[in-house]
Amino acid sequence: MDQNRLRIAIQKSGRLSTECQKLLKGCGVKLNLREQRLIAHAENMPIDLLLVRDDDIPGLVMDGVVDLGVVGENVLEETLMERQAQGQSADYSVLKRLDFGGCRLSLAVAQEFDYQGPESLEGKRIATSYPWLLKRYMDRQGVTFKSVMLNGSVEVAPRAGVADAICDLVSTGATLEANGLVETDVIFRSKAVLIQSASTLPTAKQQVIDRLLPRIQGLQQARE
Ligand code: PRP
Ligand code: ZN
Ligand code: MG
Repeated sequence: MDQNRLRIAIQKSGRLSTECQKLLKGCGVKLNLREQRLIAHAENMPIDLLLVRDDDIPGLVMDGVVDLGVVGENVLEETLMERQAQGQSADYSVLKRLDFGGCRLSLAVAQEFDYQGPESLEGKRIATSYPWLLKRYMDRQGVTFKSVMLNGSVEVAPRAGVADAICDLVSTGATLEANGLVETDVIFRSKAVLIQSASTLPTAKQQVIDRLLPRIQGLQQARE
């Protein structure tokens, strides 16, 4: 990769990826996005896009592998807690909170579950991709539980008998409903954010960011 080109990590596929591509397009960045490619080069600006899993984006920014990243605050906060616990570097700055990617991280149980509050989950197994955010919430509630780590298909865990409850992202609620689950506690509210690595950038790269940011501000304001 060319060291002089600004590197931006965005989600390869999923809720944020279309919005991210729209945002860049709105900023005048001409992308040459071919399917199944990890890297896409902008044709008219010194920008390279890295198309990756959203969960990998905070780490790529914190390790300085990329200069900027667009990611949900849920994934960002989870990575932050994990890295801090493991003594890894976790520096970054938020350039802009964006107006898309809104969702919440919630606890949910099967419709038949007699839920009386978090204490109903004492000693239970909870399936999640966000063990750190979940633990922080449950610690505050004074409830102990067993975490079942799943990176996908979290919503099928109760039916499959591998967990008693789940803690997962909810946007429209359609996934919960389709799986006979009821949302009980919202533990984190999230939107997409544009983050920058903590390392000092070469002037040429910083100039590209300084050109992009006002355009992003303008686009966001126009939608308000
Ligand atoms: C989340 C979550 C559910 C779905 C809920 O996954 O895991 O599968 O969205 O959305 P709904 O309430 O609108 O049905 P998502 O694909 O956003 O993230 P992931 O790919 O990182 O799991
Ligand atoms: Zn993900
Ligand atoms: Mg999912």
